[in-house]
Amino acid sequence: MAILVTGGAGYIGSHTVLALLEKGEEVVVLDNLCNASSKALNRVEELTGKPVKFYQVDVRDSEQIRNVFTLHKISSVIHFAGLKSVGESVRKPLEYYDNNLYSTLILLAEMKRAGVKNLIFSSSATVYGQPEQTPLTENARIGGTTNPYGTSKLMIEQILQDCSRADPELTIIILRYFNPVGAHQSGLIGEDPNGIPANLVPYITQVAVGKLEKLSIFGNDYPTKDGTGIRDYIHVMDVAEGHIKALGAIDSHKGVSIYNLGTGIGYSVLEILSAFEKASGRSIPYIIEPRREGDIGECWSDPSLAKQKLAWQAKRNIHDMVRDAWHWQVNNPQGFND
Ligand code: NAD
Ligand code: WQD
Repeated sequence: MAILVTGGAGYIGSHTVLALLEKGEEVVVLDNLCNASSKALNRVEELTGKPVKFYQVDVRDSEQIRNVFTLHKISSVIHFAGLKSVGESVRKPLEYYDNNLYSTLILLAEMKRAGVKNLIFSSSATVYGQPEQTPLTENARIGGTTNPYGTSKLMIEQILQDCSRADPELTIIILRYFNPVGAHQSGLIGEDPNGIPANLVPYITQVAVGKLEKLSIFGNDYPTKDGTGIRDYIHVMDVAEGHIKALGAIDSHKGVSIYNLGTGIGYSVLEILSAFEKASGRSIPYIIEPRREGDIGECWSDPSLAKQKLAWQAKRNIHDMVRDAWHWQVNNPQGFND
């Protein structure tokens, strides 16, 4: 039996595929490569010495998906595929709703047809909107998302709840990631954003290699320890391992279960910057800019439910995260185009 991974050539997907192969799982990847390179999967094969069965298909193409379910015996699906840029989603709402919602609907319909009952879905801390209090537990209020990307995740979570109610045999684990950063320690795979990065850590690493001039820090007037925004950054390999644990525990789950994947520790923008400068030995020029629209001051998780129910806990600290992000960037200044 194989694990089907949609979006498996992407940032979190490729790290998870690597972890699955290392665990001895057979893996089938679906990706339309709209935001990824097949080189990521070649490097995963190189690192593990194991083959990845890859189909370059769009998850919205039901015929192709049906074909994959016919060709392979699939025990569980991990659904990473989707569009993820907050700013782009504001400019292109229809593309985001079309891709994120429709791919999930097609996938669920084809899973049903093929009799596949287990699904792990990539959700996001973004579903909590403006937190009423931190740390965020899974039963905190959700909603109040400020962009179509976040709203698409919220809607998918609701769709999954409805599908589970209609089919009690479905087992769905929703993982809400906080801020995944870093890269595999080999420096062979990592985050390779299209164009100018919107996220903090890839922006910093690109300033450090000289691709960008300076960092803009969006606001130093938040009611936080140093005035800059606070987030729960988590190493991408810890996120990948969260999926392995979820998969391992899926038979003891029923219906829909939701887990935060975070470290439970919040760091400010200035703290990340200083940890990065220490790890890389480079100084990062920056300026303070006004707050970014839609940003919240602080957000971090209570990850204790995942520890209790999945026996998962993030193992890597902030120094590991920035060191590995740097290692990937300095070895691959042009990402997978090097
Ligand atoms: P990514 O863009 O690197 O990976 C997504 C992959 O899906 C890409 O390889 C892309 O080519 C593929 N894809 C997109 N639409 C597709 C479609 N219709 N058919 C087939 N393939 C398609 O993003 P990522 O950072 O690896 O994120 C993976 C998932 O985790 C996404 O669902 C994202 O929303 C979610 N997530 C990411 C973060 C983050 O900060 N990176 C945080 C929370 C949640
Ligand atoms: C982190 C902090 C910024 C860039 C986003 C999505 C979220 C999730 C993860 C998918 C904030 C500050 C950033 C810069 C800065 N993705 N910053 N200068 O906004 O917490 O989360 O990615 O689900 O949905 O919203 O992450 O890395 O963009 O920002 O000062 O150039 O860094 O203001 O305080 P965010 P981020």
